[in-house]
Amino acid sequence: MEEWRLQKYLAHSGIASRRAAEDIIAEGRVFVNGKRVTDPATKVTLKDRVTVDGKTVKPTRTKTYIILNKPAQVLSTASDDRGRTCVVDLVDAEGARLYPVGRLDYDTKGIILLTDDGDFMQRITHPKFEMWKTYEAVVKGEPDEETLGMLRAGVELEDGKTLPAEADVVRFKGNNAVVRVKIREGRNRQVRRMLEAVGYPVLDLKRTALGGLELGELRPGKWRHMKHRDFESLFGKNEAKKLGF
Ligand code: URA
Repeated sequence: MEEWRLQKYLAHSGIASRRAAEDIIAEGRVFVNGKRVTDPATKVTLKDRVTVDGKTVKPTRTKTYIILNKPAQVLSTASDDRGRTCVVDLVDAEGARLYPVGRLDYDTKGIILLTDDGDFMQRITHPKFEMWKTYEAVVKGEPDEETLGMLRAGVELEDGKTLPAEADVVRFKGNNAVVRVKIREGRNRQVRRMLEAVGYPVLDLKRTALGGLELGELRPGKWRHMKHRDFESLFGKNEAKKLGF
């Protein structure tokens, strides 16, 4: 059975943040199986009876879900035998064995999720769910409507034609355009290959959203735990509820 640090157990019970949980424990307000405990590192399992101020508490979630803004030159893997930095190296998961949900190229930046929940990972990456992914690609020049139309209709690639997508020029950077591309597949280097195929090789690529979950203000290399509303943005309110988030 999975063991937890008491502090984490309380944080996942919605009682308090990790920091505040530490204080609550130090104040002697927490009992495990009837015994007062003041060490936040105490290990507990779901079989233990934990009370705070006399009330029983149970963690609502035992899994970890993290949103990270992946910088370029970081691998989206859990480890690398050549010692390169991996997304997992950028977060402090407090003992959870995290895996990236899907992949971004070494040079692609932006939103990536990390979790130890296999079902969650599957729900996002399995092609049958067609999770929308939004990218912003910097290209030289300005793709015209006809070019954008090709991206929208589907582009013939060596592994088959891409599904209909969304494509729009959203702003300019000097002589370059930023093209927002929304796809619901996850083929290898797909956005780079699509733009290359229509004559606009990608100079820089960033994923800005997964479903309706946007990267927002998270700086490159920064991460945070996902909150209730993040799951709702990711899946939509009804679906998030159905999935138990
Ligand atoms: N498409 C790409 O070309 N690269 C990524 O990292 C993700 C999607």
